[in-house]
Amino acid sequence: MGLIATIGKKEKKEIPSLAELIAKGNHKTMRNVLITGGAGFIGSHVVRLFCRNYPDYQIYNLDKLTYAGNLENLADVAADCPNYHFIKGDICDLEHMRRIFADHRIDGVIHLAAESHVDRSIRDPFAFAQTNVLGTLSLLQAAREAWAEDMNGKLFYHVSTDEVYGSLHDPGTFFVETTAYDPQSPYSASKASSDHFVRAFGNTYGLPIVVSNCSNNYGPNQFPEKLIPLFINNIRHGKPLPVYGTGENVRDWLYVIDHARAIDTIFHRGRVGETYNIGGFNEWRNIDLIRVMIRTADRLLGNPEGHSEGLITYVQDRAGHDKRYAIDSTKLHEELGWEPSLQFEEGIEKTIRWYLDNQQWLDHITSGAYERYYAEMYGDK
Ligand code: NAD
Ligand code: TYD
Repeated sequence: MGLIATIGKKEKKEIPSLAELIAKGNHKTMRNVLITGGAGFIGSHVVRLFCRNYPDYQIYNLDKLTYAGNLENLADVAADCPNYHFIKGDICDLEHMRRIFADHRIDGVIHLAAESHVDRSIRDPFAFAQTNVLGTLSLLQAAREAWAEDMNGKLFYHVSTDEVYGSLHDPGTFFVETTAYDPQSPYSASKASSDHFVRAFGNTYGLPIVVSNCSNNYGPNQFPEKLIPLFINNIRHGKPLPVYGTGENVRDWLYVIDHARAIDTIFHRGRVGETYNIGGFNEWRNIDLIRVMIRTADRLLGNPEGHSEGLITYVQDRAGHDKRYAIDSTKLHEELGWEPSLQFEEGIEKTIRWYLDNQQWLDHITSGAYERYYAEMYGDK
């Protein structure tokens, strides 16, 4: 039996439960897709993939353009793809979200907008609760209201992180979809909370949802506060490489385009109501990864071997620093056939080349030039 829902001032109406939708087969016919956070690192790759691969979809990139949002990431898409549309907005603004769903008849959501950097979350946890929890909640509410008449064929896809599972200590253990949540940083606590809200909207209101939890991403267009782009930029400029603690923390790295491919696969073929873990079985101790980056960057820059080793500088550890993340993505592989397309050695070399060849992109960010450009365009940045 479905739920009786009262939405806004509308009459009470019966809506199917998530279980009923799943049993019926939620025929995915989404055509007007809202991608939040599309001007950020991962979002920009997802927007590009969807605009190029699905020319019959209309793709709406909703982004607040925080310090991490950069429309330069999508200059090629804006120039070549008539189905691409940018909307500047804040996911916390419920009225604006309602208008977007109504004006563009949104039937699919891929939600990536978030505050995403652990170090920032330690300095300002409230910003993370605001965007990641309350912002997700207002997007869920707008979707629930807009789709109240007919949830069939709709999908709210929430993009999350493996950090919600906490920190692994025993070698050989992995996060699986049923691992209990145990977030340790304000960032992961806010993402865990948003995941719970998404599942609660599925369970309580029958909203067709799907969630994925992915490992650390690397690749072009990542904001240079994160380990890999920061260190490439510092190697190039001969600046210190600040290694937190002993450098023995372990992360599981996935090339960003493989994450975008996984999102495409799950959006179109994933089972409604499910969770999928995404990862490349590619664990690295930070210090080992840093040595690979140094060797590769020195070679590409024409420096003698070992030239930049001396830049390694051990600094005070991050507060509450998670020891190890490692994702088991067997379910996604066995159920939907996804697997990473790139070996790590190839991916990291491509990534380093990209940052070395796109120094202007880095310079715009580090100089604040792009922020001034958008302030002129949009007035309030
Ligand atoms: P990012 O910080 O590069 O980009 C975030 C984007 O969201 C930016 O464009 C920003 O302007 C936008 N944004 C922030 N607050 C907003 C708001 N209130 N309203 C509208 N837009 C807003 O982040 P990313 O690394 O691309 O991560 C994207 C998503 O993927 C996040 O939800 C993150 O939790 C998740 N994720 C990231 C990784 C990773 O390794 N980077 C791994 C797994 C999951
Ligand atoms: P980061 O890229 O911030 O991703 P996350 O914290 O979400 O995993 O950091 C990756 C790892 O690198 C993490 O263990 C912290 C470490 N790190 C440093 O050692 N130095 C740095 O300057 C940064 C930014 C990260």
